[in-house]
Amino acid sequence: MLAAQRVLSAPNTRLPRIADPRFGNDPFALGVASGQPRPQSVVLWTRLMADPAQPGGGLPRALVPLTWQVAEDEAFARIVRSGTVLADPAQAHSVRVQVDHLRPAWRYWYRFLAGGIASPVGRTRTAPAADAAVDRLRLALASCQHYEQGWFTAHREIAELDLDAVVFVGDYIYDSSNRRFRLRSHEAEAPCTLDGFRARYATYKRDPDLQACHAAHPWILAWDDHEVRNDYAGTFGDEDELSPEAFVRMRSAAYQAYFEHQPLALDQMPGPHGVRMHDRFRWGRLADLWMLDGRQYRSPQVCNGGQVAGGHVRWHCPALTDDQGTMLGTDQERWLQGGLRSAGGRWKLVGQATQVSPWGLPGPDGQPLVYSDGWDGYPAARARLMAHIATHRLENVVFLGGDVHRHVAAQLRANAHDPQAPIVASEFVTSSLTTAGIPETLMSLIRSSNVDILHARSDERGYMQVDVTDRSLHCVARATGFPVLAHSALHTQARFRVEAGRAGPQRE
Ligand SMILES: [Fe+2]
Repeated sequence: MLAAQRVLSAPNTRLPRIADPRFGNDPFALGVASGQPRPQSVVLWTRLMADPAQPGGGLPRALVPLTWQVAEDEAFARIVRSGTVLADPAQAHSVRVQVDHLRPAWRYWYRFLAGGIASPVGRTRTAPAADAAVDRLRLALASCQHYEQGWFTAHREIAELDLDAVVFVGDYIYDSSNRRFRLRSHEAEAPCTLDGFRARYATYKRDPDLQACHAAHPWILAWDDHEVRNDYAGTFGDEDELSPEAFVRMRSAAYQAYFEHQPLALDQMPGPHGVRMHDRFRWGRLADLWMLDGRQYRSPQVCNGGQVAGGHVRWHCPALTDDQGTMLGTDQERWLQGGLRSAGGRWKLVGQATQVSPWGLPGPDGQPLVYSDGWDGYPAARARLMAHIATHRLENVVFLGGDVHRHVAAQLRANAHDPQAPIVASEFVTSSLTTAGIPETLMSLIRSSNVDILHARSDERGYMQVDVTDRSLHCVARATGFPVLAHSALHTQARFRVEAGRAGPQRE
C-alpha cells in the first residue's frame, strides 16, 4: 500500500512526542474536512482537541501521532491509502494530509485514528481528469454564517445533496456580535490574538450541522472580511480600534488560525508576506472555477480620506471615478484575466466574496449611490474586468458571490451603469446562511431602479445549488426566514438558468 502524503513541515523535534496518546474526551470534537479537490488528490483535515475550555485545547505541548486512512467504501474494507502524521502544537494540533495518486472523479471515505479513538468518517470526491468530458458539475454556494444569529440548518440540507463540492465564499466566522440578533453565544469577545481566533474557530467547528457538511463534501474556500475584521482592506483596518502595526499583527494571527482550521493546501501556510488564497479548479472540459481573494490586496475603500478602511454609503465622491482602485491587486487581476482568456473549460465560474452587479440607486446629484465596500466602491476594477470579458468575447462567464446577505440573480454589462451596453456575463449571489439582511424596503428600491437585477431578496437566509451541464447552468436559490432555527425548513425561493452562449440568467 502506498503511503502517499506530504507533511506540513518538519515538526519541532525539540518537542516531546507522545508515543501512545490517551484522551479523556473525544479528541475529534471539531470534526473532519476535505478540500482542494484535484484529479488525483485531495486535502484531509482535522484538529485534535481534548478540552475546548482549556488554552491549547487541553493538549500538552507535545507532538501527537495520528493515523489517517482513505478507503473506497464507507466501511473501510478497501483502504487504498494510509499513513501517519504528527499533530504539532505550533499548528494548534491541526493536521492536513495531501493525499496523492487517487483516481479522478472518484468517491472516497476517510478518517483519522488517535489514541484508539476513530474520528467521524468523512466523504470526499476528486475532480475529473483535466481532459475529461464531464456530464455534470453540481456545487453548493454558501457564505456568511454568523454563529450567534442562527442555526446552520442549511448545512444540514447541503450535507444530504449529491455534490461535487461546496463553494464557500467568505465570512466563515464572524469577529463581531450584534446584540439585536443573538440566539447563541460566541463564548468570547472579538478575537485579537492567535489564541482568540483559534477559540473562535473551535466554537464554529463544534456545530454539528457545519461538521456534517464538511464531512459530506470537499470544500473550496474564499475568505472575506469577517475572518479578520469588518470591511478591512489589505493591511488597513479600523484605526479607532488598532494602530496600523497592531492591525497587521492581528491579521497575521487571523490568517494563521484560518489556515489551521480549513482544508487548504500545504503551500497555503501563511508566511511573512501573507498567503496565496486565489486559486483555480477545473472539472475536465466542462468548467473552470477561479476563487478570488478580494481582501488581502485591495486598496482602501474610496472617500475615507486616505489609508483608512471601512465601507460606507457614498454618492458624491470624485474618487469613485479614480482608476487607481483595486479589488484584487495587480498580480491577481492579471492572473485572472490571463486564465479567463486561455481557459479550456466551457463554463468560466468566478467565485468571489461579494456582489459584482451595481445597486443602481441614483443619489441626490444623479451619481450612483454605492456601498463602498463592494465592487460598487471599486468601479475602475470592475470596469477593467468587464471590459476584458467584452473585448475578448469570453463566453459563459458566471460570477458566484456572497457577502451581501441576499439572494441575487443579475446580468452584468460591459459598462455597469449603461443599460444600452451589451450583457457580457451572469451573476448569482447567495444569501447568508444565517446573518441578517438589509431591510426589504431598501431592497425593493434597488430592484425597481436597476433593470439588471433580475432577482434580489434580503428577507430570507439560505444557499444556492448550481448545476452545470454542457448546454446550460441552473441555479436554485434555497431559503428560509430569519432567524434560522434548528427546525426551519428551506424552500425554493427562485430558479434561474443560463444557456451556454447567451449571457444573462433567465428565470425558470
Ligand atoms: Fe457576511
